[in-house]
Amino acid sequence: MKLLRPDIDPVRDKFAQARLELSSALIEREDEIDLVLTALVANEHVLLVGPPGCGKSLLLDSVLSWTGGTKFSILLTKFTTVEEVMGPVSLAALKEDKYLRITSGKLPEAEFAYLDEVFKASSAILNTLLRMLNERVYDAGDGVARPVPLKLCLAASNEWASPDTGKELAAIADRFLLRKTVAPIRSQAGRQKLLWTRDHAPRLSTTITPAEVGQARLWALTLPWADDAKDALEIVLKELAKEGVQPGDRRQFKTSGWSRRSPT
Ligand SMILES: Nc1ncnc2c1ncn2[C@@H]1O[C@H](COP(=O)(O)OP(=O)(O)OP(=O)(O)O)[C@@H](O)[C@H]1O
Ligand SMILES: [Mg+2]
Repeated sequence: MKLLRPDIDPVRDKFAQARLELSSALIEREDEIDLVLTALVANEHVLLVGPPGCGKSLLLDSVLSWTGGTKFSILLTKFTTVEEVMGPVSLAALKEDKYLRITSGKLPEAEFAYLDEVFKASSAILNTLLRMLNERVYDAGDGVARPVPLKLCLAASNEWASPDTGKELAAIADRFLLRKTVAPIRSQAGRQKLLWTRDHAPRLSTTITPAEVGQARLWALTLPWADDAKDALEIVLKELAKEGVQPGDRRQFKTSGWSRRSPT
């Protein structure tokens, strides 16, 4: 089926409008906004890492409030239980010797999710997340991998995972194709806007449905990769290799898909 991209496209207009409204409220967060909106179109997950109070939640909450569909949002701590994220075990099912979770309203049923302080989660939660983020399936414990509707997982943390924090956190970080360090506001004008504006919350005049996001994704897929863009990506990968940064094959492959959706 050939998809024709019309000149007047309400979905593209909604993305443009949201991009404008987010960047006029959030100070010096243009790159993060583009990253998150592109992730939405690319069906990839995003991790923002930055010091406390640099606007991560303000951005991610705003994007989550822009999307329709089923959502799940949680601030993770080391005490957060699997039940809080995946749902309680069904007692009715247990009586029939079956192990099942009641997932309604929890992560396994969410199309859009925001996991704040993702690296603070317990091993049990992290292990389930690994598979859910990558393969988009959830095994409630009975050995049956059920597909999940997850389209976009947004996550935030104050610190990057490091070799000291173990392989588990590094594996979770790897599941986020799009990762960015968020820096505090740098410019004097930005600092003044922060200090003297009472309310920084973006006012979004539209909302977007999962179906519209799906439509944007299909259209983005029709965009061709120009030869010079391909060369540029290969140069970037070679330059990174010279600096000792060697993204894995999965990350390289996914990056070529994501770049197609990027607005810049
Ligand atoms: N770049 C910014 N633009 C606009 N407001 C900002 C910005 N950075 C911080 N703020 C202000 O600081 C408040 C705190 O930001 P927010 O809660 O989003 O930080 P955070 O990065 O999520 O912090 P934490 O890591 O502690 O969760 C915001 O509600 C907003 O008022
Ligand atoms: Mg926060």
